Amino acid sequence: PAPGWTTRVDAIVVGSGIAGLTAALELRTRVPRVLLVTKGELSSGSTVWAQGGIAAALDPEDSPEAHLADTLAAGGGLSDPDAVKVLVTEGPERVHELVARGAVFDKTGNGAIALTREGGHRADRIAHAGGDATGAEISRALVAQIDAVRDDPGIEVVENALVLDILTGAPDAQGRRAARGVTLHVRGTGSRDGVGAVLAPAVILATGGIGQIYRSSTNPAGATGDGIAAALRAGAVLADLEFVQFHPTVLWLGSGAKGQLPLISEAVRGEGAWLLDVDGRRFMPAVHEMAELAPRDVVAHAIVRQMTATGADNVLLDARHLGADFLRARFPTITERLLANGIDWTEEPVPVAPAQHYHSGGVVTDLLGRSSVDGLYAVGEVACTGVHGANRLASNSLLEGLVFAYRAARDVAVRYAAGELRDAADPVERPGGSALVAATARSRVQKVMSGGSGVIRSATSLEAADERLAAVRADAHRRSDVVAEPQAAEWETTNVHQVSRALTRAAWERTETRGGHYRVDFPTTESEWARRVLVSLDDDGTL
Ligand code: SIN
Repeated sequence: PAPGWTTRVDAIVVGSGIAGLTAALELRTRVPRVLLVTKGELSSGSTVWAQGGIAAALDPEDSPEAHLADTLAAGGGLSDPDAVKVLVTEGPERVHELVARGAVFDKTGNGAIALTREGGHRADRIAHAGGDATGAEISRALVAQIDAVRDDPGIEVVENALVLDILTGAPDAQGRRAARGVTLHVRGTGSRDGVGAVLAPAVILATGGIGQIYRSSTNPAGATGDGIAAALRAGAVLADLEFVQFHPTVLWLGSGAKGQLPLISEAVRGEGAWLLDVDGRRFMPAVHEMAELAPRDVVAHAIVRQMTATGADNVLLDARHLGADFLRARFPTITERLLANGIDWTEEPVPVAPAQHYHSGGVVTDLLGRSSVDGLYAVGEVACTGVHGANRLASNSLLEGLVFAYRAARDVAVRYAAGELRDAADPVERPGGSALVAATARSRVQKVMSGGSGVIRSATSLEAADERLAAVRADAHRRSDVVAEPQAAEWETTNVHQVSRALTRAAWERTETRGGHYRVDFPTTESEWARRVLVSLDDDGTL
């Protein structure tokens, strides 16, 4: 639909996790008019669900170089060393700024930030808050900072606003486009109701992940890949889409369970919990020298193999030997969530299985968060900075959001001050529309993705998934009357479908196994595949 209202600002931030909130706070005093839009409330999104913590070389015994080495090792040869260097060297200072902004981390007896270990880390470098509620504390502190400046005329916050598309100018002689703003669908805020356009020369996407393309995920319901899909439609280049991280230890609630499932933090294994198969045998020491603390992809794949060998739908996470008092004090959120599901983990092992958790791929950016579309930035999970490569190291994601949101916001401010980012007078273009996918198709897409494009993939499974996704699209064209008056659910499901298709194509193209991408038909890592699969739309708008 045509926008019912139009407004103009200097910079738009889309999303309110750690990356979006940080970007908005950094921009607020540096460009005159900032608009922060978020799909739900300010505190919704994935950050709030992060348990384990935020990784940074804060211990005098640790170093950015050691953090860099662990991150590169986990990334399976595909991380960009320059991006990782930025992450690990600037990370500690950004974490200290977070503390200055009011985030309260757990402390040791002598008042230093307490640090724990997670998979793939060879040092204790994970700062945590409230035991296992790190993201909730970070979100609380940053939202409080935004709330404190809500009356400031330099920043406007619009909640319940789904970004529909990125507006661009006409392509230049090299075919390169520049961002001109976004269209939004806003639910119920007076003059900003319904579909509207916000014009701005800088758009920072911080829309988070894609968990809802799968049947089960640790991500909240809003993780529908909106930013990736909108960037793709606007002509941006995407990469590493095939590298999906499946968290090894998500509470198994039966084969019928779907949607957001409770995470059992890797920090539980960091504190010494064991993985057992359903017959009570510990299996990780035989798989990797770091046993239960091997990188996440290694653990998830070992669990799947163990499940296949025993014919079970889950394995067990045994934390009983850590002691009831310790478990309750160190992991209060997990203890409570388990009890809510009838499990007392001080007395019994916890049934767990891998579920989708994080997307390493996304909108390709440089070290300043700039995408291939001028003025369009991506930070946090929606971005592909090159930090994670084929597999993200645990607790690097909050850090990435923090470090690169700061950089992107500073870059926007510098370019604004230099007069590079000004309102353009030329007409804006909106990506060509095709039929929206009905909201009712979402569970069909999720089933296809979990079956064909999930933890274990093959040419056969990926081709079948691609065909089924094409059938969903064909149905959308046939039944376009169903979505004549689209609501958020239709746009989100269209994004879910578009991301699923792009990811499946990339996974099909990568004929090897590396990091989070496991191909049973190509089970080894191949040196000629030490490169990225880039994805963008053809001139006619197809993949
Ligand atoms: C966890 O607590 O296991 C999640 C940490 C992460 O995904 O980085």
